[in-house]
Amino acid sequence: MSHSVPHGGTLIHLFNPTFDYESICQEIEIDNMALSDLDLIGSGAYSPLNGFLTEKDYNSVVDGMRLANGTVWSIPITLPVCKEKAEQLIVGEWVKLVKDQAVYGVLKLEQLFIPDKKKEAEQVYGTSDLAHPGVKKLFERPAVYAGGPVQLVRKTEKGKFASYHLDPTETRKKFKELGWNTVVGFQTRNPVHRAHEYIQKSALETIDGLFLHPLVGETKSDDIPADIRMESYEVLLEKYYPKNRVFLSVFPAAMRYAGPREAIFHAVVRKNFGCTHFIVGRDHAGVGTYYGTYDAQKIFNNFKYEELGITPLFFEHCFYCKKCEGMASTKTCPHPSKDHDILSGTAVRELLRKGEFPPSTFSRREVVEVLIKGLQKGI
Ligand code: ADX
Repeated sequence: MSHSVPHGGTLIHLFNPTFDYESICQEIEIDNMALSDLDLIGSGAYSPLNGFLTEKDYNSVVDGMRLANGTVWSIPITLPVCKEKAEQLIVGEWVKLVKDQAVYGVLKLEQLFIPDKKKEAEQVYGTSDLAHPGVKKLFERPAVYAGGPVQLVRKTEKGKFASYHLDPTETRKKFKELGWNTVVGFQTRNPVHRAHEYIQKSALETIDGLFLHPLVGETKSDDIPADIRMESYEVLLEKYYPKNRVFLSVFPAAMRYAGPREAIFHAVVRKNFGCTHFIVGRDHAGVGTYYGTYDAQKIFNNFKYEELGITPLFFEHCFYCKKCEGMASTKTCPHPSKDHDILSGTAVRELLRKGEFPPSTFSRREVVEVLIKGLQKGI
């Protein structure tokens, strides 16, 4: 058990800042989600993908959570363009990928195809309900998908937390320097509350290092903004984690809220960053009541270890138990639920937005201070 092999065997590198795109006339204006996907393809985070999915791979991913060659891949990474644009594009030619007048990449347009979005929604998200934020986004995006290999010619501006944006090659190097043979990845779109801390530290009791890898791409509007979260992670790590056992870096992908399928995706991508293990707790990447509490764990039964190449670490719903006087789960605590402090994410966000402190059994005071300050600035 040691350093992980990238998904598909090789880490993809498609960052090519000297690529000469001046003579390319065609262009596609891409949205934030496609921009972050382009960046992640280019950096190798999405290895073995070398571009946006073509129809054969897309259908195979949607139907069976695998690329056409059998490699496990659970979320379609697509480049939507509108019908009018698609009619102008010439298949077989290069296309510039543009956002706000800047060229970020180029696509060798292999194929244009019209997806069955209802089917994609049902297969990937388990619902076609437009109240689901991932499904809503899917239907809001244009109707035609452009597939083909890409080159990343410009990385996106990283802003205030630039030093936390590391490519898979860099995180792999870092883990080596730290002397970690086993690394557990932790995905989150939230501040790190006591339950998160508990499962991270439980994993750290047996794994060499924790890779805290918060998602900072697009999230739904009521999730806590990434810059506020980043500050809260810094404070928490400073006060409560041993420095040589945890490494913080950001995951610039957009959140899909695809629950089980996204858990597989999150795990495989963290393998590319160098993780050997990956934490999956309750309702991973879930939203509302679309998924069962442990569906994101059960989905791993569909794959053999050799196919995933990363070991999931499952945790039950954790909470603070007043009788135990500590964090626990039903696996470790015999007391009834009236003894447990459980707050929903929505309830906590409500408190924070009003400037009120959730109990310290839910979240560290230092974390809450940062969150309240940050959220109040935003009002
Ligand atoms: S996610 O959408 O990014 O997965 P979140 O930030 O809430 O959501 O969770 C990060 C990880 O912690 C996920 O693996 C999730 O399942 C797990 N998790 C969150 N809260 C709990 C909890 N109370 N008990 C156990 N696992 C939890």
